[in-house]
Amino acid sequence: MDKPRILVARAVFPEVVSRLAQYFEVENNQADEPWSKQQLADKLRDKVGAFTTGAERIDADALAAAPHLKICANMAVGYNNFDLPAMTARKVLATNTPDVLTETTADFGFALLMATARRVTESEHYLRAGKWQRWSYDMFAGSDVHGSTLGILGMGRIGQGIARRGAHGFGMNVIYHNRSRLSPELEAQCKARYVSKDELLRMADHLVLVLPYSPESHHTIGAAELALMKPTANLINIARGGIVDDAALAAALRERKIAGAGLDVYEGEPKVHPDLLTVPNVVLTPHIASATVPTRKAMADLAADNLIGFLVHGKPLTPLNPEVLG
Ligand code: DGY
Repeated sequence: MDKPRILVARAVFPEVVSRLAQYFEVENNQADEPWSKQQLADKLRDKVGAFTTGAERIDADALAAAPHLKICANMAVGYNNFDLPAMTARKVLATNTPDVLTETTADFGFALLMATARRVTESEHYLRAGKWQRWSYDMFAGSDVHGSTLGILGMGRIGQGIARRGAHGFGMNVIYHNRSRLSPELEAQCKARYVSKDELLRMADHLVLVLPYSPESHHTIGAAELALMKPTANLINIARGGIVDDAALAAALRERKIAGAGLDVYEGEPKVHPDLLTVPNVVLTPHIASATVPTRKAMADLAADNLIGFLVHGKPLTPLNPEVLG
């Protein structure tokens, strides 16, 4: 019997492609060629499953071109590349990779927070440029992390991981805002106090964004929100581009309305707003919060397990729209 045909849209660990090939006829993209929307649609035309990353948009147009498609397994916890209502309407299952990246991503949120607070990138550029001649009392003096107030906007699993690191590791006073309040047990574990969004913006010394992107969260942080923050505060975004108005942030950094920012995600990435590239008080990384070898492997394995689980055994592990399972 012919094996079901699937598409692996991006380069991924070869052993994961080999494992998928035991069950499926796999068309892959190990050369990691950039595909246009039309090329992706053409490749989906005869496939029942797709292994995607956050870079492949699965919307009504892609679905219209793919009459046999039954599942898209995203190798990411975020899934704003999926038009979930359109997938559900077409009865295409969507899966993501929660849990396996929580602690790694929380580690990175903290790394970016520390690097921003202690001006690690700026000072390294200064040293590499041969400008370091002698000690001075205020050279790259930044802000303290220990004992400061850590604000978290979006208190899902990753937000909670950051809260635990801040509260238990660095003795930080943790405040958070989220659509729904955590249970008293989780608040106690995270040593986190629920506040309004305005209070969060006004009180945080370090504000970390960990909320999902949706049209509702577009530009959650713009000029008005930045104006509420302390001039000594740092903003960290490990969530998604578009949650912050990058032009407004670059202006606030240039005018020292806030002290610094650490960004892993950008509006329209991989493009970065040109003004962010010219302000010194920002640490910039290319969307790598989940990028450790073991975690990326675990994410790829989970995406593959979702394809095998659903298409071979009828049981996906982490469905986003289980209603299509009937
Ligand atoms: C995720 O999993 O959503 C990450 O942002 C992708 O690396």
